[in-house]
Amino acid sequence: MVVITSDQRQVIFDAVIAMYTNVALSPQQGYHFPTGRMAAEYVGYPPELLDRLPAAAVESFAGVGYPFATGVLRPGDTVLDIGSGSGTDLLAAALSVGTEGFVYGVDMTEAMRGKATANARLAGAENVEVLEGNAENLPLRDGSVDAVTSNGVINLVPAKRKAIAEIHRVLRPGGWVQIADIVVEDLPSEACRAKPRLWAECIVGATTQADYLRMFTEVGFTDVERLGELDYFAASSSASTRATAGGFGAHSMVMRAHKPA
Ligand SMILES: C[S@@+](CC[C@H](N)C(=O)[O-])C[C@H]1O[C@@H](n2cnc3c(N)ncnc32)[C@H](O)[C@@H]1O
Repeated sequence: MVVITSDQRQVIFDAVIAMYTNVALSPQQGYHFPTGRMAAEYVGYPPELLDRLPAAAVESFAGVGYPFATGVLRPGDTVLDIGSGSGTDLLAAALSVGTEGFVYGVDMTEAMRGKATANARLAGAENVEVLEGNAENLPLRDGSVDAVTSNGVINLVPAKRKAIAEIHRVLRPGGWVQIADIVVEDLPSEACRAKPRLWAECIVGATTQADYLRMFTEVGFTDVERLGELDYFAASSSASTRATAGGFGAHSMVMRAHKPA
């Protein structure tokens, strides 16, 4: 279990917001982690699905897996996408739930919220709303959504257990969560975790898979199941990122869990 001091928390939030403001505004710049359509196809998004989404959403994609492989979304569901970025999963979820359903996005980076809202308009998706908020304190009522999705986000959150308890709180009894995220085999040293840039690049904020899955069980989820994993950082264009990630055994996984009825 990783413990973060309050000083470090604000530094981490600031670094994350700065990084993802850049990914929103300058998607072609090139990052140490895979982004855009190449990344989406690498982690498993069907090209036919990506073709149905605005290119301006996919160009700033920074997810780490394909959480829709879990198959938990149903037509008519109300869904929350935590850390919705430029809107790739938000709009993919809107296609899954149809016009009878509704999709909320929450993101703490203003540039991402603006981009996702513009992309929802471009896609003609009227059943989408993007909210300002932090994964540690979600701006939704208890039991208000049928499903939660998230992609590449909880590894960036200092208080992971709190964020997972928040997912449990906003889900209705009987609801499901689907997640793609980064986990590590060996926890990074304190010195590495003190580097905000490495947090924002989705490496050193991650916890172990066992710790990650255990937190879901501890807050009350059942059927906590890891469905697959991927050598995500192998697709990084940076040799130093590949080496850093390899040193900790950092990789992505897709999981789902159920809130008992
Ligand atoms: C790696 S990007 C993934 C974006 C999107 N899920 C995707 O697949 O393209 C992480 C996103 O989560 C947001 N984020 C990170 N930490 C957050 C937190 N504590 N609360 C809310 N949003 C957060 C960032 O602003 C960024 O848009």
